[in-house]
Amino acid sequence: MDTMKAILERRSIRKYRDSEIPQNDIDEILKAAMYAPSAGNQRPWEFIIIKSSEMKKAVCESLPHGKMLADAAFGVVVCADLSKEKFPGYWVQDCAAAVQNMLLSSHSMGIGSVWLGVHPVEERKAAISKTLGLPENVVPMGVVAFGIPDQKPDQPERFDRSLIHEEKWQK
Ligand SMILES: Cc1cc2nc3c(=O)[nH]c(=O)nc-3n(C[C@H](O)[C@H](O)[C@H](O)COP(=O)(O)O)c2cc1C
Repeated sequence: MDTMKAILERRSIRKYRDSEIPQNDIDEILKAAMYAPSAGNQRPWEFIIIKSSEMKKAVCESLPHGKMLADAAFGVVVCADLSKEKFPGYWVQDCAAAVQNMLLSSHSMGIGSVWLGVHPVEERKAAISKTLGLPENVVPMGVVAFGIPDQKPDQPERFDRSLIHEEKWQK
């Protein structure tokens, strides 16, 4: 799929069909994540794939707005290993870039997804770390739920010229 088409068409998908996703497709999505840009090429990310109903439900419990994960084909918890940091603090942006690559690549493969926020909510980070047994140097940044879409969200126009400033801030 053309990159611009994927960017413009992608929408958060929160309802999924009851179908499995082949491991090759999951690997392809994770490959896209690992090709994201990162500060100083530090690539601090680690990915935890959750497929079992028990783990999907357990992670859901820490996500007040992430109950759809229970019905997803699989979820990916995107974490950062802070011991890999060369440029402190940039891990959030690095992991966000990896998440966006997963959202776009999965969409281009006909797989729907939704980003479920974890960082910076300390309560969610602590609960997910406990559920997944994360070591102290590893922090969860976000969760992405994936599945074959069972909904077709609207495609509203979002381009807004009033958000663009020429050379300096314009009132
Ligand atoms: C950091 C972040 C956290 C988000 N957390 C949630 C969430 O917990 N639950 C959810 O349903 N959607 C979540 N979303 C998805 C947004 O609601 C969604 O991207 C936004 O409404 C725009 O819709 P679109 O993705 O279809 O373009 C999150 C998105 C981001 C970037």
